[in-house]
Parts: sequence; C-alpha cells; structure tokens
Amino acid sequence: MADNYNIPFNHSSLQGQELAHISETMNIGQIAGGQTYSKRCQAFLEQVLGVAGAMVTTSCTHALEMSALLLDLRPGDEVIVPSFTFVSTANAFALRGARIIFADIRPDTLNLDERQLEGLITPRTRVIVPMHYAGVGCEMNAIGEIAARHSLAVVEDNAHGLFGKFRGRWLGTFGCLATQSFHETKNITCGEGGALLINDARLIERAEIIREKGTDRSRFFRGQVDKYSWVDIGSSYVMSDVLAAFLYAQLEQWQKIQAQRQQIWTYYDQHLRAWAQERGIGCPIVPAYCEQSYHMYYLVLPSLEKRQALISLLKARGILSVFHYVPLHLSPMGRRMGGRQGGCPVSEQKSERLVRLPFYNRLSQGEQDQVITAIRQFQP
Ligand SMILES: Cc1ncc(COP(=O)(O)O)c(C=O)c1O
Repeated sequence: MADNYNIPFNHSSLQGQELAHISETMNIGQIAGGQTYSKRCQAFLEQVLGVAGAMVTTSCTHALEMSALLLDLRPGDEVIVPSFTFVSTANAFALRGARIIFADIRPDTLNLDERQLEGLITPRTRVIVPMHYAGVGCEMNAIGEIAARHSLAVVEDNAHGLFGKFRGRWLGTFGCLATQSFHETKNITCGEGGALLINDARLIERAEIIREKGTDRSRFFRGQVDKYSWVDIGSSYVMSDVLAAFLYAQLEQWQKIQAQRQQIWTYYDQHLRAWAQERGIGCPIVPAYCEQSYHMYYLVLPSLEKRQALISLLKARGILSVFHYVPLHLSPMGRRMGGRQGGCPVSEQKSERLVRLPFYNRLSQGEQDQVITAIRQFQP
C-alpha cells in the first residue's frame, strides 16, 4: 500500500551495524535464541532501565501473554484495560479466560483514565493494564496507589513508551511487569519482536520457564540442573538471536534515534500547533512531568468527516496518514464481552477524529515540509 505514496506513514530504518551483527551471530553458529545477542539486548535493557529482569520475546503480544500466564489469570478474573488500545493489550488476558473490563481514556493524554478505576474494580479484579499512549506516561502514581489499595497487579503495556519517563522514572518500571514492542513501526525495531520487563524479581524464574515451553531449559543451560524437563505450562516465546543481533544494532544507537525523533516531533509541533489551535484541531498534550518517547505525532479533528477529508487530501498529495484504534469495547469481540455504544465516550470520540502523521527516523525536514504544507491547505 505504502508503495503508492511519496511519503509513507512508516519506513523502517537501519542504523548501520545490523548486517555486521547478524553475520557475526551466524559465523559463531548462534541463530536460535537465548545466546550472545539476546543476552546483550537483555543486559542493555536491564542496565539502562534498571529493571530486575528483561527477556526478549517474539513480540509484545507474546510478552503480554507471558504476563497473563505469570499472574495465573483464570476464567472469571477481571482485567481492566483501556478501550483505546491495540487488540493484544486485552487479548492476551482474554486468552486465559479473563473477563476484560474496558476503561475510558483521559481526553488530554488519551491514556487510561485513572479516575474511573475505583468504579470498575470488583472483588474479581486482578490486574490493571495501563498503556502509555504515544509514549506519554499514564498517571502511574495514582494507578499504583489504587492497585496497592486493592491488591491488584499492574502490567504496563509500554509498546509505545520505551525511553519515556513519568516524573523522572522510566516507563516500564512501575508495574510488576511491563511489555515492549520492537515491531517495524516502533522507535527501536527488529521487524517483529518484543520484551518482557520484570520488576518483581520473584517472577523471573517462572518467566524463564514460561518462555521456554514450560521447561527449565534455561536452568539446564546455566548448569543448574543436569537435564531439562516439562515443569509448568508455557509456550515458545524466545526471540531468535538473528533478530536479537539486528535489535542490538538499534539499541546501541538509542540516543541518536531518540534525538532524531525528538527533532521530527518538535518540527511538526512548531509548525502545526498554533495553526491547529486556531481551527479547533487538537495536538498531542504532554504534561510537564512526562518525558515522552517521541513515538508519534497526531492531530484530533473536530469530526469524523473532517478527519476523513484530511486523510483524503493528504492521500491526493501522495502522503499516507492513518488512524487507529477502533475502540475495543465496540469491536465484535468487545461487544460479546458487554461493550456498548456510549460505554467509553472519550475513546469513541477520539478514535473517530484522530489522524497520525508520517513519522519515522529517516523522515527528512523536506518531507515534513510537504506534510505541513498540505495540512495547512486544509479547510476544516
Ligand atoms: C499498544 C500496543 N500494544 C501491543 C502491541 C503489539 O505489539 P507486537 O506487534 O510487538 O506484538 C502494539 C502494536 O502495535 C501496540 O501498539
């Protein structure tokens, strides 16, 4: 689809050392998972973020599934997720038979509205899953306090938020567990991949088992047992070292990537915010105490019709802009779980009006100028 556009929505970018690292891991014969490059990626995440454990996985979706397994989610347990998020935030828990309770989002940051949590918690609630939309932190102090008061686990879906901070603390370090995505659309990528961040060290040993098909294979490789066997339930969530080698080439350059993306975000903002505000169009809101991850830039139009008209105008100029997410509570699956029109009004409204602008590491200022010029020709 993107081939027909002069300016695609996303474009994967290499940092330079990907092929060299892949060659190295192939030369030393390490192409399955859990070896040198996986360990390097994990050590990087543990050291930079200061988490007790990090495990690279096949995807963020799988890291979320590991979280549901680790927390022993069972049929009838309730998990609170924002309606305005990606399918996997909810599906990972639904797979365990949990009932998904949809929370609405805040109108400013589009993050889970922590003021709704008390009204959604029941004796069956087990987990709250905040998702840091656009890499702007959810209100983690309030969410943490509520979770502690009701003895609930917090799992952060940090697919957008790697290297973002809330009140000076890295996103992904608040919940007992947090999940990262290295999908092609993310700031740091290996095409398809993810990571589970473990802040509660008591969960590390079982996470290793769950990731290795329910076996104690990791302990075997460390020489802690003389043979490995089936010890728990699990699945195959291990990232190949070929992908880990690619990923490491990106992680090594994280500061450069983040600086590039900050520049891109700031350029959009400097050229669009005042224009948008005069026309009743919303721009991202980043509270002063949040250091965002510069994952995306979006506009919120006054209506669905106007959003569609802007997407069409950009398309006519060869620029691909996209919208997301369809509120989960109104999806066919969400409706089967009790979701109804009007159930999460802010999610419903923002979902119809939001448009994401092209955003990738190599987006040039010239390309951004084309996007900005086209947008400023739009008559809302
Ligand atoms: C908020 C959120 N959570 C989870 C995912 C799933 O990530 P992955 O493709 O790595 O499974 C995505 C993917 O875009 C996402 O945006």
